Amino acid sequence: MKINSVYDCSIIEINKHQNEKGNITVIENGLTVDFDVNRIYYLYDVPGGESRGGHAHKELKQLIIAASGSFNVVLDDGRTKRTFTLNRPYQGLLVVPGIWRELNDFSSGSVCLVLASEHYSESDYLRDYTEFLIYKTDKTQL
Ligand code: TYD
Repeated sequence: MKINSVYDCSIIEINKHQNEKGNITVIENGLTVDFDVNRIYYLYDVPGGESRGGHAHKELKQLIIAASGSFNVVLDDGRTKRTFTLNRPYQGLLVVPGIWRELNDFSSGSVCLVLASEHYSESDYLRDYTEFLIYKTDKTQL
């Protein structure tokens, strides 16, 4: 069975239609990401120094975009950590299932836009880091 690692997560270039009056980036279901987008949410007004996330998902795939400003996303597969800085509205970080994530270092006024493959489901969350490590170990042994 394939165990997802932080190396299955990467920044993708979305697109940018640019002219002197400003830019447009377009996301189309079925074209931009390899999953159906069932939910969109955005995170904003994050106080300076605050961090978000601190969980993993069992099935959810996400594309995380800094629609405005910048922030860091720290990904952790239980063995390896990778930190990505998002600061371009035409780039997105693809996060596959089974990856612990923390978002921090939000710039003032930043907006974190998330495209998600599934509707909200609390049962898809792993919110305890020890539980996450056990989950990953169990998957390795399947
Ligand atoms: P959570 O995903 O834990 O936020 P973060 O990872 O940014 O810290 O979500 C915080 C709360 O918001 C969660 O307990 C319930 C609510 N929520 C929804 O109701 N629907 C959603 O789609 C999301 C993402 C969160």
